[in-house]
Amino acid sequence: MYNSFMFNTPEIHFGIDAILEVGKEAKRLGAKKALFLSGKNVQKNGYVEKVEELLKAEGIEVITSIEDRKSGEPTTDLPEKAAELAKKEGVDIIIGMGGGSVLDVAKMAAALMTNPLKTRDYFGKEKVKIKAIPSILIPTTSGTGSEVTKHAIFLDEENQVKKAVASSNIMPTVAIIDPMTTITCPQGVTAASGFDAFLHASEPFLSNRSNTLTDTIALEAISIITKWLGPAYANGDDIEARYHMALGSLLAGLVLNNAGTSLIHALAYPIGGEFHVAHGPSLTGLVNSCFDYIMVAKQEKFAKLAVAMGEVTVGLSEKEAAEKGLKAVDALMKSVNLPTTLTEMEITDKSKAQRWAEEAFLEKRLLGRAPRKLSVEDIKTIYLNAF
Ligand SMILES: [Fe+2]
Repeated sequence: MYNSFMFNTPEIHFGIDAILEVGKEAKRLGAKKALFLSGKNVQKNGYVEKVEELLKAEGIEVITSIEDRKSGEPTTDLPEKAAELAKKEGVDIIIGMGGGSVLDVAKMAAALMTNPLKTRDYFGKEKVKIKAIPSILIPTTSGTGSEVTKHAIFLDEENQVKKAVASSNIMPTVAIIDPMTTITCPQGVTAASGFDAFLHASEPFLSNRSNTLTDTIALEAISIITKWLGPAYANGDDIEARYHMALGSLLAGLVLNNAGTSLIHALAYPIGGEFHVAHGPSLTGLVNSCFDYIMVAKQEKFAKLAVAMGEVTVGLSEKEAAEKGLKAVDALMKSVNLPTTLTEMEITDKSKAQRWAEEAFLEKRLLGRAPRKLSVEDIKTIYLNAF
């Protein structure tokens, strides 16, 4: 089979102390006044002052907005408020530093500076028609990949479902990935976001939209994350583990941006919206039943996944090797205490499966990449198998 593909990425600075580039990058982009969006933890760890200093050293004025958000997911009004402030202050660049939620708010706010409607009007594929103003994103977790992707996820409060804005015009201009900014990431977030990154590599790898370039990057990301998630979880101060998780997450983010996630992410949206759980933790209970369901279509790829995860498959049939891959994914989740069923996530009401299936079925953008055709009934079965 012949591949044809495009590959998109923001400019990337990766490495220890890469954050020191933020001022120079903003200046290079022609910025005179920046809106800096971040959260309480970034402030507590001294990064707000640091980023402000680095920007001011390049002659760039800074307006800082610290978000104190309690719930697990950003609502659609947050980027609207940020854009309003940015317009009032006349800023020409938005800089976001934090977990995936802050980064999503920052990139969407940059888009609302040039596009006239509300966040919810841009849910779906390529609905943002005008390029956002420049943005620089700095992640403090190794997982979401938001700093290199064209996606931003928000809670649609009207129907309590998470929805995605997926538009090339909201892709950040520059991503600065500094492993040192992830050192203070709490243990539970390290596990959930690190495994989210694993899925950003493995889900596209096992989908119908992958290509030679994304597969090559995905296998390396899978290998790195399988090796280093445990050490980063066990000791957050382990700089080597944080370094490799940041690298694995970056690679996975590039795969996510260019091949896209599929079934697991689609089925997690109704769960995340209804139970107000953050993105990472909303996924894990669905992984085994989703992967089990697509195994029949992607046996060869599951066998390759097993090898990338360090499993020995010499002498095994392709089916046996593929099954080893499935088991290795389950073991990886368990090794960092992530729940592997909906029941373990304390979601026990099976009667909701029908409604979730109807909602997830509408995620055509994601389900279109699944290697198996899916009816509402099929999706309901996957949910029921996940309890
Ligand atoms: Fe994700």
